[in-house]
Amino acid sequence: MKFILNNEDIETELPSGMTVLDFVRYHKDLKGTKIGCREGDCGACTVLVGELIGDEVKYRSMTSCLMPLANAAGKHIVTVEGINPEDGSLTPVQQVMVDESGTQCGFCTVGFVMSLTGFCLSGAENTQAGSLRSDAISAVDGNICRCTGYKSIERAATRLSDQWSAASGQSVPTYFRSISNRLRQLIENGRPPATEHRPRSAVGGGTDLYVQRPEQMAEAESRPLLYDEQLRGIRDLGDTIEIGAAATVTDLLESPVMQSIFPKLYEHLKLVSSTPIRNMATIAGNFVNASPIGDMTVWFLALDATIELSCISPRVSKGETRTLPLKDFYLGYKQLAKQPDEIITAIRFPKPAGDFRFNFEKVCKRTYLDIATVNTAISCVVGDDLNAGGTPAFQSVHLSAGGVGPIPLYLRETSAFLRGKEPTEETITAANDIMQSEISPISDVRGTENYKRLLLRQLLRAHFVEMFGI
Ligand SMILES: Cc1cc2nc3c(=O)[nH]c(=O)nc-3n(C[C@H](O)[C@H](O)[C@H](O)COP(=O)(O)OP(=O)(O)OC[C@H]3O[C@@H](n4cnc5c(N)ncnc54)[C@H](O)[C@@H]3O)c2cc1C
Ligand code: FES
Ligand code: FES
Repeated sequence: MKFILNNEDIETELPSGMTVLDFVRYHKDLKGTKIGCREGDCGACTVLVGELIGDEVKYRSMTSCLMPLANAAGKHIVTVEGINPEDGSLTPVQQVMVDESGTQCGFCTVGFVMSLTGFCLSGAENTQAGSLRSDAISAVDGNICRCTGYKSIERAATRLSDQWSAASGQSVPTYFRSISNRLRQLIENGRPPATEHRPRSAVGGGTDLYVQRPEQMAEAESRPLLYDEQLRGIRDLGDTIEIGAAATVTDLLESPVMQSIFPKLYEHLKLVSSTPIRNMATIAGNFVNASPIGDMTVWFLALDATIELSCISPRVSKGETRTLPLKDFYLGYKQLAKQPDEIITAIRFPKPAGDFRFNFEKVCKRTYLDIATVNTAISCVVGDDLNAGGTPAFQSVHLSAGGVGPIPLYLRETSAFLRGKEPTEETITAANDIMQSEISPISDVRGTENYKRLLLRQLLRAHFVEMFGI
């Protein structure tokens, strides 16, 4: 593998499953990057990953504890040692953290500094949260501090956003200017030869695999998919939207195609993990992890999505393919209608037409950076042609729910019941009765069976409030 670490060209034959965190700390002796949880939760290990896109290098924050070296190939990996100015002064990010007393014991500080540096390197025109200030604060949504208190860090982020134009130009040393050329050469000269043997399993962003079996992954030779060009991109094909299986949650968030269809895209996807995890987490990874509360799975079930599965061939990304409705992918708890040598290559859903509405609801123990207790999504097209009285009725409805059964559920009977009905109070009550018969929640640490039933009932109501104001 070849990549650039800070200002150093790296060529290594270390196992591709080793985490970037272990590589920088134990093989390059760069101890600025800290180890907190090793589960993607604390952000102490945050690094920036630069990818050459056209002539520009796009930097994203990622948690190095979950990132395999394989995903570093052809990239610029930046640790805190790589942003320090050559003259020994502080970067604008480091300076605002000092000025606003944003650090106490310092263990988390490097992570915050890297996330805020990522914010400085992002284009101001890419505002997601509505303002630069909100963007700066959102940039640290994957960083936890246990001793300073967040107000001073928030003040530092706010000050940084106020001086964004000046700070963005000075946030990294001058060697960054050489990176795009160096990455181009590295990619052109460094294409790996196709391997003859067949790797056993796929790894996307690693955000599930490295939490579930870190030791095994460190030894494994997995097939890296995150940057596989054939699995990327979000395309409007006319009557269908096609998403490459390796698209990340951030890719969805930044996609003009998705933004045009889902007006509340940011509001909804902000409920999914944190910025660094969204930068790594692929949609297909979420499907195949098969968690009953997978947010993206519930989201795409409600879009009546289909998946394209291809046999892994050692030489080409796409071998023999077949398509399957996502709702038929789940056979039982963590049991999938997928052969071991198949990977998901694409996700498709019908391009919405007419009066299309969509809503996503998620209840967790805390609002952000938490997995759902119960989640649900709905998509519908409303029209008046099915109703004799001319009042709006559902032409089509797809309703899904997570956390209320062993698999993420497409609620077939409730969806079928809703078709042709008007969105009224009576419809909600009747739909809930059917929905309750379709689910089978269990009592666990996240809530009792009754609590989850009640929660889903309320979330069904929330869908109607959000979509129709009733
Ligand atoms: C801190 C943290 C917070 C999280 N918060 C959330 C949350 O709020 N909501 C949520 O839903 N999830 C959450 N997750 C879980 C995780 O981020 C998602 O499930 C993510 O989408 C997994 O994608 P990945 O690419 O990282 O998967 P990986 O870990 O790379 O892979 C997961 C599984 O999918 C397989 N796989 C990956 N790509 C393919 C493919 N193309 N074809 C076939 N198999 C494939 C892998 O072999 C593996 O079995 C969180 C995780 C962490 C660490
Ligand atoms: S060590 Fe906590 S997110 Fe990586
Ligand atoms: S400064 Fe101590 S954990 Fe943040």
